[in-house]
Amino acid sequence: MSGQTLTITPSAANPGPGPVAPRMLTGDRPTGRLHLGHYVGSLANRVRLHKRYESFFIVADLHMLTTKNSGQDIAAVRHNATEMVLDSLAVGLDPAHSVFFLQSAVPEVAEINLLLSSLVTVPRLERIPSLKEMARDAGKQEMPFALLGYPVLQAADILAVKATAVPVGRDNAAHVEVAREIARRFNRRYRPVFPVPALIHGDVPSLPGTDGQAKMSKSLGNAIYLADPPEEVRGKVMRMYTDPARTGPGVPGTVEGNPVFAYHAAFNDRPAEVADLAERYRAGKVGDVEVKQKLAAAINRFLAPVQERRAAFGADEGLVAELIVTGTERTRREVQRTVADMRDAMGLTAAFTEFQRHARRPHAPDVSDRCEVDQHRK
Ligand code: TRP
Repeated sequence: MSGQTLTITPSAANPGPGPVAPRMLTGDRPTGRLHLGHYVGSLANRVRLHKRYESFFIVADLHMLTTKNSGQDIAAVRHNATEMVLDSLAVGLDPAHSVFFLQSAVPEVAEINLLLSSLVTVPRLERIPSLKEMARDAGKQEMPFALLGYPVLQAADILAVKATAVPVGRDNAAHVEVAREIARRFNRRYRPVFPVPALIHGDVPSLPGTDGQAKMSKSLGNAIYLADPPEEVRGKVMRMYTDPARTGPGVPGTVEGNPVFAYHAAFNDRPAEVADLAERYRAGKVGDVEVKQKLAAAINRFLAPVQERRAAFGADEGLVAELIVTGTERTRREVQRTVADMRDAMGLTAAFTEFQRHARRPHAPDVSDRCEVDQHRK
């Protein structure tokens, strides 16, 4: 896997101290289209930040395997990844400033995962609540080994490109904390190789589902998707959960914690309209229907340019595939350098180089066995 990386000289592998180019990494598992919850929790930040960094966006299909690993799930990766990249471009990621890559096509990430797994304990991972939730949501009786290691694999992604910033939603914050710990531990135990990545939160706490549950999620069926057409948005908004204590338009209602108003706050570009609705709602002087109609209109105003861009990028045949292939090749080169750097810092390179030097038949340390095999074949 990393035979060729052994040939990288220590000086190239270890450029020494100096300013680190700011680099951002984030992404999603390819399980479906992106929704308003993704936008608020993470996409908005990605768009805002991506031109300030060298920005990498992972299609985390290996992470998907920790809970969904049927042949069908895997066969859907191509379609889902395409939709996700289109959604990302639609909300405003500039393809010229974004490196999209497919995690499973960078096998060195798995090697980094293994090397990092000695730097974290099982009880540390068992204390992370999101993993138990994911196991429960996936209907698992017992914790899958890979799912317990989910944050370590995420650390591998982040450290593989030596990211300095990781913008994520709330459920991923604890995973980035693990990545930070692992980076510090590696640097202390071996040699400073990794910048300690900064966690960047979304600005809105998190968007509830249309059914009033704490979280908008595909599996709960309470999501409004970025690609939902206007009539569908209207339908979902009109069915939204609101203040359950309010029995009629003349009854004073509660704005705080009301999902309809949480969405108004996140998406309505007319603050005076929102303030007026909130005031009349508290006073029992507006019906839910009007509040919801104005919300549906606001969300559709927000989505119109998003869907226009989506259509334009979608019509550009082969664009997404090209972005993913180019981005994956680019990322793989970076990651191969990181693995070489890690193996060198850990002293793993030295062991094999010494064996090559002392072998009965002389082996130049910079000629890998694979090259010799290839020559014999010719
Ligand atoms: N864990 C993320 C999710 O919930 C996906 C992911 C995988 C990721 N690797 C990452 C996010 C690295 C940020 C950085 O889908």
